[in-house]
Amino acid sequence: MEERIISSKMMMEEDEMVEFSLRPRSLREYIGQSRAKENLKIYIEAAKMRNETLDHVLLYGPPGLGKTTLSHIIANEMGAQIRTTSGPAIERPGDLAAILTNLQPHDFLFIDEIHRLNRSVEEVLYPAMEDFALDIMIGKGPSAHSVRLDLPPFTLVGATTRAGSLSAPLRDRFGVVSRLEYYTQEELAFIVMRAADLLRVGIREEGALEIATRSRGTPRVANRLLKRVRDFVQVQGDGIITGEAARDALDRIQVDRLGLDHVDHRLLLAIIEKFRGGPVGLDTIAATIGEEPNTIEDVYEPYLMQIGFLQRTPRGRMVTLRCCEHFGVQWPEA
Ligand SMILES: Nc1ncnc2c1ncn2[C@@H]1O[C@H](COP(=O)(O)OP(=O)(O)OP(=O)(O)O)[C@@H](O)[C@H]1O
Ligand SMILES: [Mg+2]
Repeated sequence: MEERIISSKMMMEEDEMVEFSLRPRSLREYIGQSRAKENLKIYIEAAKMRNETLDHVLLYGPPGLGKTTLSHIIANEMGAQIRTTSGPAIERPGDLAAILTNLQPHDFLFIDEIHRLNRSVEEVLYPAMEDFALDIMIGKGPSAHSVRLDLPPFTLVGATTRAGSLSAPLRDRFGVVSRLEYYTQEELAFIVMRAADLLRVGIREEGALEIATRSRGTPRVANRLLKRVRDFVQVQGDGIITGEAARDALDRIQVDRLGLDHVDHRLLLAIIEKFRGGPVGLDTIAATIGEEPNTIEDVYEPYLMQIGFLQRTPRGRMVTLRCCEHFGVQWPEA
């Protein structure tokens, strides 16, 4: 990575606009995830060669790793348009039928949080995925019968943070299943440099690495931290993100050197101090620190397990020796 300093002229934009503009548009711009990316490249090329739709794709992994981004990129690489919806937004089978019958040939349909589709909606999806067909029930009682409607060929891209919550019949209907991994520090530093460029804030390689180190392997976190550090250097510094400026800003917003924030700290310290290191049930921890069990399970725990601070056991959550060392506390004796 070359060191560069970019002028810090910039205009405030709405946060969402920024989020949108930071999204890479092509596989080439999409950093990291090389395994998923290399395979997808082949499938995309093969489908294009045969002039077919791409097989249905399931993307799973912790929040903020780039599932939504990647799904748009795949559609883009196929030269197709993409419609987006989400599991909870599709309440009734009729809602999904309406979406499906409005698709154009070769369209992509992106269903975010696909594990949250209800069963009756899921059942509409089975023949749609398998045969590009819709089975509609006509009439009621003994005269009821089903009619099969053809659908245009399309590609379904499903995204979920919980592949385990997907029903087996649904999971089995995806031809491509890709798991996104946490990013390395080098990859994140690259993402931060690129985002700084787009945000037109000057950054040194050391500054990018400092932000990367504390981004818990997650591009969304990296972009968020970058924006906060940018605030500090523009108001209190000379507008350039150096290593020191990044360190100071991140210390001030209480993101520690492993990227743990005050919620992680409360979570881990509660287990250590109130439950002798565990095991303790998820609901009990959630009630103790006032967070939703789902949020803890989907957002906080995966990274804490990844860095070996937390374990899920059949009897509940336990902290590890390494976690106690990070906080400088004694390993609780049972
Ligand atoms: N490979 C990447 N290269 C560069 N930036 C990325 C990459 N992946 C993700 N990002 C950035 O991270 C942000 C979050 O990504 P995205 O919204 O796609 O995550 P997600 O996996 O869909 O999260 P969630 O599970 O919460 O829906 C994006 O706005 C994008 O800017
Ligand atoms: Mg998403």
